Amino acid sequence: MHILVVIGQTTFVTHDMNYDTYYKLCCEQYNTDINTNFYQKPVQVYESDFFGLEYINIVNSLAKKVKTDFDYDNDCDCDGLFTKQVNIWKYSDDIDSLCNIIVPYLEANKYGCHLYVDKIYIYRTNKIKTRQSSYEWHYDNNPDEIVKNLIYLNNVNEQNSPYEFLRNNDKQGVLGNCTRRGTETWYPAPNNSRVGHLIDNLIKTGYTTKRVVGPKGTMVSFINNSIHRANPIIDGYRDVINIRVKPCLHKAPKYVSPQYTTSYEFSGVVNKDPTLAWNSKI
Ligand SMILES: [Fe+2]
Repeated sequence: MHILVVIGQTTFVTHDMNYDTYYKLCCEQYNTDINTNFYQKPVQVYESDFFGLEYINIVNSLAKKVKTDFDYDNDCDCDGLFTKQVNIWKYSDDIDSLCNIIVPYLEANKYGCHLYVDKIYIYRTNKIKTRQSSYEWHYDNNPDEIVKNLIYLNNVNEQNSPYEFLRNNDKQGVLGNCTRRGTETWYPAPNNSRVGHLIDNLIKTGYTTKRVVGPKGTMVSFINNSIHRANPIIDGYRDVINIRVKPCLHKAPKYVSPQYTTSYEFSGVVNKDPTLAWNSKI
């Protein structure tokens, strides 16, 4: 497929491309001097007061509604591992307000380009007997340019499902070997991107694991291929909203919209063609 791309005054035709090439075009289009070092810090933790009072108020408002719906099983789907909220659009106002704070911050400080929200998950973690699925060490294996932003909707300690990630000797997150990078590179990951069997040896070389605990509103922003896992509930509960962003050449009408933001009703795998951006649901 040939694709028309407009950068400044220049229009040219591109061929298929991976997300890293597309991301570079997006940065040129955005035209900022910011050097974001996007790939250097794959996992960043923002304390609950980082984004200010308005953010806290929105998180409180959303958290209350989400808790009630999970407590009373409203629009919930439990697969035994996670309890999923299947009707995210009833929280549209809070979701819009939250994205209007977080996404511009990420555009200006993490990516240096336009972004839109392509996926939102709202879920509660459960007590489980045996680790499986996202409770195992893994990376998501979408292209590296896809970032997830996980916001705790209640206080999280060691007992109620802290997000955990692998850190290198510089205490930075570690990326797994992504095999889905775009139209030029797209094949299944070894061992289905499960990497638990590698962790012990990495720890012997000085790598460490970090569990993110913190009050309601704490946000973990991570390249989806950072090696991570959820921890099962020992005591209590944990509700989160996970806001996933993608780079785009042109500013979307809104950061988040039912026209191009999906949840559990669609696969978590992005379209292999990055240029479709918010003109496509997946
Ligand atoms: Fe994951």
